[in-house]
Amino acid sequence: MADIKDKNINDLTDKQARLDLARLAMEITYHDKCYHGNDAPVITDAIYDGLQRRNSAIEEKFPNFIRKNSPSKKIGAAIKTGFGKVSHKKPMLSLANAFNRDDVVDFLSSIRKFLNFNPNDNLEIIAEPKIDGLSASIRYVNRKLHIAATRGDGMIGEDITNNILTISDIPKTLPDDAPDIVEIRGEIYMAREDFLALNKKQTEFGKKIFANPRNAAAGSLRQLDANITASRNLKFFGYALGETSISFANSIGAMRQKFANWGFKLNNPAKICHNIDEIISYYNHIDQIRSDLPFDIDGVVYKVNSINLQNRLGMITKTPRWAKAHKFEAEQAETTLNNIIIQVGRTGAMTPVANLEAINVGGVIVSRASLHNEDEIIRKDIREGDRVIIKRAGDVIPQVVEVVFSKRPDNSKAYIFPKNCPQCGADRIREDGDAIWRCSGDLACPAQAIEKLKHFVSKAAFNMEGLGAKQIEAFLKDGLIKTPADIFKLHDHYNNICNRDGWGKKSTDNLIKSIEDKCDITLDRFIYALGIRHIGQSTAKLLAKNYISIDGFLLKTNEAYNDISSDAYETLINIDQIGATVAKDLLNFLGEEHNKIVINDLLIHLKIAPYIIKELQSPITGKIIVFTGTLQTTSRSEAKAKAEEFGAKVSNSVSKKTDYVVVGKDAGSKAKKAINLGINILSEEDWHNLISIDLPNI
Ligand code: IVH
Repeated sequence: MADIKDKNINDLTDKQARLDLARLAMEITYHDKCYHGNDAPVITDAIYDGLQRRNSAIEEKFPNFIRKNSPSKKIGAAIKTGFGKVSHKKPMLSLANAFNRDDVVDFLSSIRKFLNFNPNDNLEIIAEPKIDGLSASIRYVNRKLHIAATRGDGMIGEDITNNILTISDIPKTLPDDAPDIVEIRGEIYMAREDFLALNKKQTEFGKKIFANPRNAAAGSLRQLDANITASRNLKFFGYALGETSISFANSIGAMRQKFANWGFKLNNPAKICHNIDEIISYYNHIDQIRSDLPFDIDGVVYKVNSINLQNRLGMITKTPRWAKAHKFEAEQAETTLNNIIIQVGRTGAMTPVANLEAINVGGVIVSRASLHNEDEIIRKDIREGDRVIIKRAGDVIPQVVEVVFSKRPDNSKAYIFPKNCPQCGADRIREDGDAIWRCSGDLACPAQAIEKLKHFVSKAAFNMEGLGAKQIEAFLKDGLIKTPADIFKLHDHYNNICNRDGWGKKSTDNLIKSIEDKCDITLDRFIYALGIRHIGQSTAKLLAKNYISIDGFLLKTNEAYNDISSDAYETLINIDQIGATVAKDLLNFLGEEHNKIVINDLLIHLKIAPYIIKELQSPITGKIIVFTGTLQTTSRSEAKAKAEEFGAKVSNSVSKKTDYVVVGKDAGSKAKKAINLGINILSEEDWHNLISIDLPNI
């Protein structure tokens, strides 16, 4: 039987939870002592964080057993890791961006399509200013402020309760009509006036000044001494809802009204809009009054007003389908483009980058800009030595907008894109329809090899401490590692590492130990770590969720690779958000001989944990469903998204393995085939009853 300490928190009994909290308190106290008292930690920060995380997660689930001197309450612990971790009951999403009217038109029409709206159906959109601060979630239990957390990665944030308590905009208690459990989400920000005053004070005391109010708010919140936070006069707007024990509003407008009644400040002016013209005139109005507002905003946010519709629309990876941020025009500046260099990335992409004469663009010093690809350079006729206009939009990499042709030097020459990789000399290649030249050197190209290895050890992949970019470069150069699998054989080079500059027995032991610790990995992280083109964290999760185990993943993708008319191929391209392009990259990668060797080599060293499905059990969990005909109350995409959300797989064709066929209007051969095979047939109404979602009256 699994040790209590390894058990999934959801499977713990009361007694086990109490025992594990006691063990964690003891272990964390011991490690705090090693770290603070002796300045000699015996575990890595990651393992320590893991203990703290487990402790907080058990406390969340079993609040009755929180110990009086729980490690999550201790300052000593906070000093070490910074802040305790809090896992969000409902993920904290971010927003996809729109940059122009067309993007907003697309946003509205995709919502209408998803919801199967008629042209004259009314869709209310609430528009609000987009505050440039930091989002936070504040949880009230029995109307008392219980815990507050930053967004973090959307699933796990940092505990900032002590700091939040110093913000006067945030009520510490809620009135009687508030639910027993409610999480108010919103933005912590610093008013412009307070920002200027803070920087003045910082200058007087010879301290670091902040680039903008957002950075100042972040710096003020991330203070282990909450007295400092208190002195910075941070403010808060409530604009969204996390978990709530009962629903108390059926629209964002009604929710905002409640928030105001409960004592929260709102990010006004907000407006309910009914069409694109109303939306754009709101945008223009806010852009005009932007500098008169007492706080910084970087755009406006549009949200579907109805909560019922929001629930139907759901989300795509980390962003909701029902909301969009419409950013203001980026800030621009003119500077000289000194020269163009070619960067070679993990997948061999040869990206041209402009080295610029450093310039301040909207409070940030810019010295480089991406030029994207050769076509872009030709289209804009960008040359070394040109004067160029640079723009910076939010966190996006700075870009060259255009050349100031009137200032072009007389001797200027058109830029010639190199025919070979500047790092390894291999020929460049370009696939049909791809705008990017790629180096054909693959692992033989040091730039690609380094980037692949760096990706492999990066935080979201194997998260290997003690093995950063610097060490990877040195080990690769000296032939200690070439492929990711070699990392797990570094112990063979023990003496070599020990005797290197800056290394000794202790640091080598630590490195070997931390590599050993990472031999246990989850399937999604493993897939992400392989660094396959187009497969980021969320796609890797989708794949892991579908294939569950490494064996299933390799077996089924191999079947799909060998035969694109196989069930395995069909299943792959039917996974929501995967499609043919990603499938092609994935299968090409896995079918490549040298990748097979690396993967097999890795499997010798690793224990890859299957993906744990967290969805609730539903009547359709694990079932295979086919939709056919025209659905009347919903779109095919909504039906598919719902089915997947409830744990079912959606297929395009009916076979013996199909569990349900949902039949819409004018269904044809698939319905007939289902009847012949004796498969359960559901009408559209049966389908809605099965998953019981609320529908508008039609
Ligand atoms: S709604 C599910 N409303 O913008 C969406 N976000 O770029 C929840 N933000 O992470 C967010 N003003 O920190 C929302 N009026 C507003 C906002 C707002 C600022 C921030 C928020 C979010 C980020 C995404």
